[in-house]
Amino acid sequence: MTVPNPASPMDLFAQAPDRVSIYEVSPRDGLQNEAVMIPIEGKKRLINSLVNAGLKRIEITSFVSPKWVPQLADAEELASTLKPPPGVTFGALCPNAKGLERALSAGLSEIAVFLSASETHNKMNINKTIDDTLSVFHEIVPPAREKGLAVRAYVSTVWGCPYEGPIDPKKVLSIAKRLIDLGCYQVSLGDTIGVGTPRQTDLIVRMFRDEMPLSRIALHLHDTRGTALSNIVVGLQLGVRDFDSSVAGVGGCPYAPGAAGNVATEDLIYLMNGMGIETGVDLEGVIEAGRVAEEVIGRQLPGKVHKAGAFKLRKARTA
Ligand code: HMG
Ligand code: MG
Repeated sequence: MTVPNPASPMDLFAQAPDRVSIYEVSPRDGLQNEAVMIPIEGKKRLINSLVNAGLKRIEITSFVSPKWVPQLADAEELASTLKPPPGVTFGALCPNAKGLERALSAGLSEIAVFLSASETHNKMNINKTIDDTLSVFHEIVPPAREKGLAVRAYVSTVWGCPYEGPIDPKKVLSIAKRLIDLGCYQVSLGDTIGVGTPRQTDLIVRMFRDEMPLSRIALHLHDTRGTALSNIVVGLQLGVRDFDSSVAGVGGCPYAPGAAGNVATEDLIYLMNGMGIETGVDLEGVIEAGRVAEEVIGRQLPGKVHKAGAFKLRKARTA
């Protein structure tokens, strides 16, 4: 009888890439849920510290209704007075024509449309059915592209919905294909409430891999139950190269009760550094940005590396 050899660590990581791309969401996904209003100067300090750490793609705000998300009511002022340095892209959420108009007048070069794979969450979050939301996107994505904007997209509740429970991955795939056909360059798959586990991630990513190049998707994993990094490793092994994260793990969705922040950027960089995968981001710089985030927000933030720091040797006590 031949005993199958368990995969060695070498085999497991034979597919590991040289480089991945990180999309920082803390100024938007991170701050949108904060109850205390954060002054615009604090937001600028946070964004500048993220740029200084080497992050090249940063979602800085949302052009949504200020009645729905009061924390980001200063979107125009922020986006029109803080410009990205060369090589850095600032993006923002945009739900409809009014959002696009505001994003254009603020001079942004990238927007992100968003909807949920769950009807109930979509209704709670953007007050529309999925079909009606896609109709709105038909009115904004092509004009945005014609005006030279890059358009990203999010599909939320892919791993599970707080109101409907499990979501059929085939429904996610069908929505994602429609978004790509419409002109979105990438669809970020959201584990909005952080319920996903590796086997589920394996199934979802393989299903996408059978239908499109994996450069078309990103993983946007809230770390509510501590499974985000294990899901990221599964994505990496299958060929995903784009990951969203939030400095110090700040954030959550105001219309998804109980959701914690996205996987912490420091934790993600620490993982990639340890695996020899280039991110272009300086870990100490991100740890400093996490300190800035904590100061600006005015409360302790949950990221693990944010709290523990990088792996450094300490002096042993002698005598
Ligand atoms: P509605 O109330 O159905 O909209 O909201 P409406 O078209 O009937 O308009 C109502 C009022 O809002 C009007 O003003 C509009 O002018 C105004 P009034 O006449 O009452 O004074 N309005 C706007 N104002 C500014 N900018 C706009 C805009 N649109 C309308 N763009 C709407 C529909 C989509 C606007 C609303 O539901 C909304 O803003 N929702 C956003 C909720 C949100 O931002 N949620 C969090 C982000 S999603 C997320 O976190 C998940 C993600 O991270 C991925 C993941 O984790 O899975 C992306
Ligand atoms: Mg999110």
